Amino acid sequence: MTAVDPQARVAPPHLRGIDHVELWVGNARAFAGWMAAAFGFDIVAHAGPETGERDRQRWMLQQGDIRLLVTGALGPDSPVADHVRRHGDGVRDIAFLVDDVDTAYAGALERGAAGVRPPADDTDDHGTIRHAAIATYGETVHTFLDRSRYAGPFAPRFEEAGLKRPVGPDVGLLRIDHIVGNVEEGELERWVGYYEQVMGFDQLVHFTDDAISTEYSALMSTVVWNGAKVVMPLNEPAEGRRKSQIEEYLDYYGSPGVQHLALRTDDIVAAVRALRARGVRMLEVPPSYYDEAKERMAELGDELPWAALAELGILVDRDHDGYLLQIFTETLCDRPTVFVEIIQREGAKGFGEGNFKALFQAIEREQEARGNL
Ligand code: FE2
Repeated sequence: MTAVDPQARVAPPHLRGIDHVELWVGNARAFAGWMAAAFGFDIVAHAGPETGERDRQRWMLQQGDIRLLVTGALGPDSPVADHVRRHGDGVRDIAFLVDDVDTAYAGALERGAAGVRPPADDTDDHGTIRHAAIATYGETVHTFLDRSRYAGPFAPRFEEAGLKRPVGPDVGLLRIDHIVGNVEEGELERWVGYYEQVMGFDQLVHFTDDAISTEYSALMSTVVWNGAKVVMPLNEPAEGRRKSQIEEYLDYYGSPGVQHLALRTDDIVAAVRALRARGVRMLEVPPSYYDEAKERMAELGDELPWAALAELGILVDRDHDGYLLQIFTETLCDRPTVFVEIIQREGAKGFGEGNFKALFQAIEREQEARGNL
């Protein structure tokens, strides 16, 4: 990121939403198979040497409106292999759908972003996708893309995967709720500024380290959003008695990066039951959590299915607008870095602040087991 020009008069990019999230992984076939079998995604499209993609294998997974692109390298010189060697499996790209790629890219650069790929066309028999990319935290990028002139399964060189929906109960994930990034200590304000100035985002809410800390681990968090569907909380580690979970992430990922993808469902009890049946492991919640939660949620009375929530380990929180239910999976990869949150919102617009302590205590038990607390 270069210095932001406060005089920039160019409009920030207008984002229509998140088109897809791309993960760069060590073994795309295995990772895609795991996301399909365990999380209930359909494997929709594939690109590889047999379809004209020379140096990588790519699988496009879909569930509801959520699209995950999983990419693996075919050789040691691939930038994908280099990325995986340094970061482990992780999110490389949060790709935004825009109406006009050239305007979005030029606007972002004018407002202080660093370019990664200038606008270009990618064309096959199904039409053309125009795309460009800018840098964000760590080695993560934001692609801007326009698929209005494209009618194929996903993008040029992708073919329908022709795979059957994996067996197992439906999970029912509907859309991306938010995507959280971890940045280094002292860098939170700069990256909040990046999203405000480069992307035209607003601050939705800020959590100080007093609000989000346990005896040992602390962090600060600011949520930025585009006023609509793109919601991106940013975390930085704060001083605690022992290593913050954000610091552990940064150590293992080797740089800032995406910490978790929160995926929305409208029936979290059914979703978590299905995920557990499919073998997804979640952070375990101490049983005493539910005594504390029932008090915290007293106004809701018997509205909540407490027995099912406790059985499945689902967390609950509320704000003035309603309540939310959420749960966090174990990390998706070998390194303790990226994980998934499942969330159901019943009015509440928050992120589970009331759960931070309960969640951290659970996370810290795991961190301790790895000898990193
Ligand atoms: Fe979250």
